[in-house]
Amino acid sequence: MSFDINAIRAQFPILSRTIHDKPLAYLDNAASAQKPLAVIDSMRNCFEHSYANVHRGLHTMANETTEAFEGARQKIANFIGAAESSEIIFTKGATEALNLVAYGLMGEIKEGDEIIISQMEHHSNIVPWNFLRERFGAVIKWIPVLEDGTLDMGVYKTLFTKHTKIVSIVHMSNVTGTVNPVKEIGKIAHEHGCVFIVDGTQAAVHIEVDMMDIDADFYAMTGHKLYGPTGIGALYGKREHLEKLRPFQGGGEMIEDVFEDHVTYQDIPHKFEAGTPPIMEAIGFGVAIDWINQFNRQDVIDHEMKLYHHALNGLQEMNSFRLIGNAPNKGAVLSFALEGAHAHDIAQILDRYGIAIRAGQHCTQPLMHVFGVHSTARASFGIYNTIEEVDRLIEGVKKARKFLS
Ligand code: ALA
Repeated sequence: MSFDINAIRAQFPILSRTIHDKPLAYLDNAASAQKPLAVIDSMRNCFEHSYANVHRGLHTMANETTEAFEGARQKIANFIGAAESSEIIFTKGATEALNLVAYGLMGEIKEGDEIIISQMEHHSNIVPWNFLRERFGAVIKWIPVLEDGTLDMGVYKTLFTKHTKIVSIVHMSNVTGTVNPVKEIGKIAHEHGCVFIVDGTQAAVHIEVDMMDIDADFYAMTGHKLYGPTGIGALYGKREHLEKLRPFQGGGEMIEDVFEDHVTYQDIPHKFEAGTPPIMEAIGFGVAIDWINQFNRQDVIDHEMKLYHHALNGLQEMNSFRLIGNAPNKGAVLSFALEGAHAHDIAQILDRYGIAIRAGQHCTQPLMHVFGVHSTARASFGIYNTIEEVDRLIEGVKKARKFLS
């Protein structure tokens, strides 16, 4: 489909609402994206016409729902270039996907074993590893972030010892938009015999990702930032790694047989999907992928980056403006600070003008420490945003600047 912004916007009913009598300008896509009618209608349609539990029934609706649910798994596999759909585990989101891996690997970790992460990680790629530090005495080593928001690759190469077991890195920062060289990071991790995990929460939305190229052992993603529903995400894992990984939760459907003295488990992916899964959400996620697939991915990326550069050019005119992260390779996320103005105040003033951005620490406290800020304001762009909305953002921030002086 050609990139017709008006036709795209018409598919998002929420974009026509007003906030404080002003048209909504939704620039908080890195937190969560809005949903097109295709996703909303597909979930409604399933609930109204063909809802049942999956994998359990011998009746028509159970079979229809199972087919749609497994079809969604295949769509996710195709979207990220996985070798087979069994390598896709449905999770509640990227956070659960990362926790699943950390939990599953705990049997491999003993006191003194090392886990490499970076200072730009979201808390969801820090805290699960901290559990291994607290429980088993694992050591967490940090790749430093440089002033421009890139990783210090020189230091990264020096962090390995014979005790290093895991490297887990974000693909695209939710704060600076930095796109990390995950292929290179993974190659080095593998040369040292480490398991290589990537948090793809933002990257899967804003850039093209290909598992065959990245060669990650595990890759976490979420549905709601990809124009799909909340409550659904996916963990990609290479077959040989998933087969070795300890299940995260026990219950129905993940077992093969249960005896009084032992239990045997299903094959992947079912071994990791205990209980009734988020069925409608998974189907909606698959529809969101179909929806995004109708566009040329490079057109979408170009559009978002045009918005980003337009915003940056306008905001940079202010003397007190500080861009947080200026990596050469980044996606359409713009974090900034204004000297003398609190990010929360900026966001609240923008809300009066109908403009939605995020302000705060963005679940990345170590990164805030690196940049020496308590919080940032963040505008993040999606497929449906326009240059006019960015102009309103620039005007709004200038007004906030004056008001807060
Ligand atoms: N972690 C999400 C964000 O960056 C919610 O806003």
